[in-house]
Amino acid sequence: MKEIGLGLLGFGMVGAGVVRGLQANGELIGSRLGVRPVLRRIADLDIESDRGVTVDPAILTTDANALIDDPAVEVVIELVGGTGIAKAFVLRALAQGKPVVTANKALLADHGAEIFALAREKQTDIYFGASVGGGIPIIRALREGLLANRIQSIRGILNGTCNYILTEMERAGVPFNTCLADAQALGFAEAEPSLDIDGFDTAHKAVLLASLAYGGTVAMESVYVEGIRNLSSLDIGYARDLGYKVKLLAVIRSDDGAVEIRVHPSLVPAKSMLGSVHGVFNAVLVNGDLTGDTLYYGRGAGADPTASTVLGDVADVVRNLASAAAHRIPAIPDSGDVIRIRPMQDVTTRYYLRLSLKDEPGVLGAITAILGKHRISLSSALQKDEPENSYVPVVFVTHEAREAEVDAALQEIAALDCVACAPVRLRIEG
Ligand code: HSE
Repeated sequence: MKEIGLGLLGFGMVGAGVVRGLQANGELIGSRLGVRPVLRRIADLDIESDRGVTVDPAILTTDANALIDDPAVEVVIELVGGTGIAKAFVLRALAQGKPVVTANKALLADHGAEIFALAREKQTDIYFGASVGGGIPIIRALREGLLANRIQSIRGILNGTCNYILTEMERAGVPFNTCLADAQALGFAEAEPSLDIDGFDTAHKAVLLASLAYGGTVAMESVYVEGIRNLSSLDIGYARDLGYKVKLLAVIRSDDGAVEIRVHPSLVPAKSMLGSVHGVFNAVLVNGDLTGDTLYYGRGAGADPTASTVLGDVADVVRNLASAAAHRIPAIPDSGDVIRIRPMQDVTTRYYLRLSLKDEPGVLGAITAILGKHRISLSSALQKDEPENSYVPVVFVTHEAREAEVDAALQEIAALDCVACAPVRLRIEG
């Protein structure tokens, strides 16, 4: 059987998963492709540590550039991560016309325009299926299976760390910091967790999904990002009482020729598909004009699920090489249009608001007058019987309102004497 040589950059957790996957299923993959992918070299700065997989020491090197330049390496798998040296490696491989498979969402979100342009110029492939959703082939679904659709919306739970923490905050009713520390002890959260918990990992993924759905590249700066660090378990409990779960959602929605891309904690109906996604799992709900809703669910991280998607990409690249059809499917569809991003201030959605109010006559009237002045209509209001000093929490659920009006109203409300502390505002989806 014809062989195609692979070079692996980065022998970390996912890299070891790729090696394990090739060792376990390489023959099966080869029989399905009619071409055998063979791992010819692995580069990492550390080639001594035990990764739990046995490889021929002769294929290990600390020289990534030598791996890329090696004629025996026909496909480069980049699992170094980050936006520094990984960028140089990817560009070096593409410049030689070598196809690249990567899981690096941060790199593509920040430098996608340059990288995709070089792949186009060299008519070679850059595949990045594992950069969103780990083992869920959502990128392939958007790029191929849903190609005939106008994508109306994508809503995704794209970060397992956050979903684990939120699930635990609700289950145990404990504060964010306790859940984060538990998640770190269990290996579900990084020692330096800010990329995950502050929403930027989800935003990188949202940028890629939006690019695939609408064509063209999207600047990270056009994404509204709010993480889960400041979420209180009090609100998660109140949301549950109202029939909602709190999830860190990426919301991508096209309406009237403009696309909104936002990442923030959202209330979703507890019984909805996204409301049923617990723990480290990821899910993406895509609404296409022909399909209606389709849901993609699975493990969004972890060595083996991520390796599954990396190897699925390798298989496509190998097929393309074997049939001289490189760049058969462009990395990002070229819509010919510039994506018009809707500013966050113009987004309309429903809101959950929690205010800490003096329990006195006329207070609710003062609040509802301000909300009314800003054309914010209430669908329910609930005073919680849990006073703190002379203040009580009051939860409001609004009908659809414009973000700018809600901002303005909350600013006025926060300045009232009858309001104890900064109002809490969460958005409601679905
Ligand atoms: N850190 C991510 C998560 C996985 O927690 O889901 C890699 O994208």
